[in-house]
Parts: sequence; C-alpha cells; structure tokens
Amino acid sequence: SVQPLRDRFGRTIDYVRLSVTDRCDFRCVYCMAEDMTFLPRQQVLTLEEIARLARTFQSLGTQKIRLTGGEPLVRRDILELVEEIGSMGLRDFGITTNGNQLSTLADPLRRAGLKRLNISLDTLDSQRFKQITRTGHLKNVLAGIDAASEAGFEGIKLNVVIMRGRNDDEILDLVEFARRKQVDISFIEEMPLGTITEHDRSESFFSSDRVREQITSRHDLFPTMDNSGGPARYFRMSDSPIRVGFISPHSHNFCATCNRVRVTVEGRLLLCLGNEHSVDLRRVLRAYPESNDKLRETIIKAMELKPERHYFDTQGDVQILRFMNMTGG
Ligand code: GTP
Ligand code: 5AD
Ligand code: SF4
Repeated sequence: SVQPLRDRFGRTIDYVRLSVTDRCDFRCVYCMAEDMTFLPRQQVLTLEEIARLARTFQSLGTQKIRLTGGEPLVRRDILELVEEIGSMGLRDFGITTNGNQLSTLADPLRRAGLKRLNISLDTLDSQRFKQITRTGHLKNVLAGIDAASEAGFEGIKLNVVIMRGRNDDEILDLVEFARRKQVDISFIEEMPLGTITEHDRSESFFSSDRVREQITSRHDLFPTMDNSGGPARYFRMSDSPIRVGFISPHSHNFCATCNRVRVTVEGRLLLCLGNEHSVDLRRVLRAYPESNDKLRETIIKAMELKPERHYFDTQGDVQILRFMNMTGG
C-alpha cells in the first residue's frame, strides 16, 4: 500500500485542493478587488496537467480532492476534468462553487462522479447579495441550490462569510434556510488575503463565538468529532439532520490537525493558506512530460516546507498578498 505524505510535524496530508481557474463570474467584496487582472492563458495549467497532478497525488496517498477557483465552473470543459478525477476511485471528491451555474451543471457534475458540493451563500436578501457579490443574482444561486439538492449528491454544504454590518443579522435566517433545504452550513471568519481597498476587514470582523451565541439562543448545538482534519468545528441539532460548522481561523486555531495542501492554477504548490511558501510544480510538469517520478519526488520534498500554522491578524498587520481567488480558500 501507499506511504501517505507526511510533514515535519507528523501531520498526514491526504487532502489536496486544486484550483482550476483564478477567474470568476462574481466579485465578492472579501475575495477580490473590484478591478482584477487575471492570469494570461499560458501561465495556467491545462486540464491534462491538472489531471496528472490529481493522479500523482493519488499515488502518494491522497484520498480526497476538492476543485476550487476562482469559480471552478467557469473553466471551459470542466466536466471532462470532473469525469476524469471522478473515475479515479477517491474516497471523496468535491467542488467549492458560487452556485451561479448549478441549475444547469448540478446534474451533469453528479453524473460525472462528483460526490460533494460546497456552495457560497452569504445572504438571502437580493439587494445585499448584489452588494456582496457585485455581479451576482441571488435567484440563480437559489435555483442552483435546488438543482443540487435534486441531483443526489453525498453532501451539500453552504458557506457563509459573516461580516459585521453586512449580514450578521441573518444568521438565524440562514440556519433556518439550511434546515429547510436539509443541507449543512458553515459560518466562516473572514481571512486577510489580498489588499482590498474598497472593503475594510478590521471593520467587518465578526467572531464565530458570536455567531454560535446567536444560534444557541434558538437551537441546542451538540459538538461532534467529525471534522475530518479540516478547519471546521461541526455541531449537530436534535431536531434536524444537518451539521452546523464554524471555521474560525482567528478565534480557534485548527492548524495542528491540518491535513491539506493546495495547488494554484499556475501550478504552485502552497503548503499553507496563510503563508506564502510555495513550490513550482508547473516547471516540473513541463520539464518531464513522460514521467511523474520527478513530480512525485518534488511533492514529497515540499512537505518539509509546510509551516506549523498560520498567523492571521484581524487588524491587518500580517497580510498575505495573494488574493483568495488564487487558491479558492
Ligand atoms: P471540506 O472540509 O472539504 O468540506 O471543505 P472546507 O469547508 O474545508 O472547504 P471550502 O472550500 O468549503 O472552504 C470553506 C472555508 O474554509 C473557506 O473560507 C476556506 O478558505 C476555508 N479553509 C479551507 N481550508 C483551510 C485551511 O487549511 N486554512 C484556513 N485558514 N482556511 C481554510
Ligand atoms: N475569508 C474567508 N473566506 C473567504 N472566501 C472567499 N474569500 C474569503 C476570505 N477572505 C470563501 C468563499 C467560499 C470559499 C471558497 O471561501 O465564500 O465559500
Ligand atoms: Fe468568486 Fe468565490 Fe471569490 Fe466570490 S468568493 S469572487 S464567488 S471566487
């Protein structure tokens, strides 16, 4: 059997997040500046190169792959890649999406072998949705969530970034929505990736503890152990099958159990979301088109660079220059 990837701190890395594009049809205020420049085509990995990475990571013990963006569903021919990775027999295979195209793509994605969908939804108010996403329409995403529910995925999760003054009064409404749709829901503390002049992160910070207080004023939340090495702490309710998660990079550090690395669409292997350390896999992919040995060796060696933890700072003193759309979280 395969020896799984391990880092210097004894963490097993069996989860890889592959970004398939830096582009997106939305411009969420916490993710992108209003005026973004995207990567030129030749710097971006081909779908064949991304599939090669997926297979190579699998040969190194990876059990779970998640495709991210930008918005993964704006990449042309994305269904072909999903089909390819979907046939690899991974334990878990997901996409994180803004939901904008799911009313047409949910069913084909499921048929192509995708198991899980995480869908961003920060508000149930169409005006606010427009303010937060700048270019999005709430009704498309709601239709997308319904199409996803019909398509029979193994799991659907809503991701909510809570921001003071923008959507912190919708926490209970969003929980009700998730209960009604019978989908999981995660509340996320905003992370400082990229400088966005139009949006002041120190103003909008809202802690997971306060989100949880609001929820427990109406529902009992029972802690679970099923976080599977991820950043979320999950809770259950007695009167609903859904899970409520909290991703709290500021208030509850989760790096000790980190199980993941990510690859940008330029082929940079990032060892941690909150650090700039990276290793260029694109160069290796293109220098050795016939064999994956060098690629495998480079990935194994890169694990030594995985930092112990991230040091995000709500006051913005520690800033990551890279925007979130380079890694999809
Ligand atoms: P699964 O556990 O696979 O369901 O995914 P997830 O909830 O970890 O990932 P998703 O793509 O839905 O992202 C939800 C939020 O978690 C985003 O804000 C990500 O940036 C954040 N996130 C995911 N992984 C990490 C990580 O390793 N570190 C930090 N700080 N945040 C992360
Ligand atoms: N902080 C926290 N979460 C973010 N996301 C995008 N930008 C940020 C940020 N700065 C979330 C999106 C999506 C997931 C990929 O990451 O809402 O759900
Ligand atoms: Fe696009 Fe997701 Fe970033 Fe919003 S958070 S702009 S949907 S990549």
